[in-house]
Amino acid sequence: MDASQPLLFLDPGVGGLSILAPVQELLPNAPIVYAMDQAGYPYGQKTEAELTGRVPALLGRLMEHVDARLIVIACNTASVIALDPVRQALDIPIVGTVPAIKPAAALSKSRVFGVLGTRATVRQPYVDNLSREFAGDCTVIRHGSHELVMLAERKLRGEQTAIADYAAILDGLFSQPRGEEIDTIVLACTHFPLVETELAEAAGRPIAFVHGGEGIARRVAQLTEGQPWPDAPPPGRAIFISDGSDTTPLKPGLERYGITEFEAL
Ligand code: DGL
Repeated sequence: MDASQPLLFLDPGVGGLSILAPVQELLPNAPIVYAMDQAGYPYGQKTEAELTGRVPALLGRLMEHVDARLIVIACNTASVIALDPVRQALDIPIVGTVPAIKPAAALSKSRVFGVLGTRATVRQPYVDNLSREFAGDCTVIRHGSHELVMLAERKLRGEQTAIADYAAILDGLFSQPRGEEIDTIVLACTHFPLVETELAEAAGRPIAFVHGGEGIARRVAQLTEGQPWPDAPPPGRAIFISDGSDTTPLKPGLERYGITEFEAL
């Protein structure tokens, strides 16, 4: 193991930054490659077949380019749909991001909680299984929203977003039967913790928001324990799997996460 071998993060957009941040807190000197699959965005609007084809192939291509020591699939949609095929295709540790249903069930006092994800994530049997296993005594209310992904993308580019837009999305949970009893919401898309402050304001009542970032960071630290790291944080590197759009508006937001080198693949 060479100290310069990076951790490779993958998300179709800026969402993976909500996973990158807690990893950087635990492993400040870890070399980071943040791969943004803009050509495949949005994953949440894709079919299962499209994602099980795309994600393992893309990660294989990225691994030929960057010799990562570990991959973090920093996207719930890709993880709940394509984690198994990725693990079959690649022979390095793969950490996925799955909806934080277990912590939500531990936290909810009303025993009614929401799962807010992409449309592709909330329809997965994976979510049924987690709910059955860890939240058997809870009512789990789901809502899939691509609009919230877009709001997070806009926020990272420094654009204004309106609280009313967040409120309308939360209504997708609150307006369902027993929705008024929700006291906890799982942010089951990595874009959503980036707009947690706006969601909290839009909710208009106290809601606990939970997501997997800290747990993933602990898992990455555990899997890399004893491995060498550089003596100081190296510059983070973004790889855009380009859809041809201008990446300039993204750069200041990425720089806040120490990502200062940019390339297109
Ligand atoms: N950030 C991704 C997730 O966690 C999805 C965003 C998208 O729809 O592309 O599910």
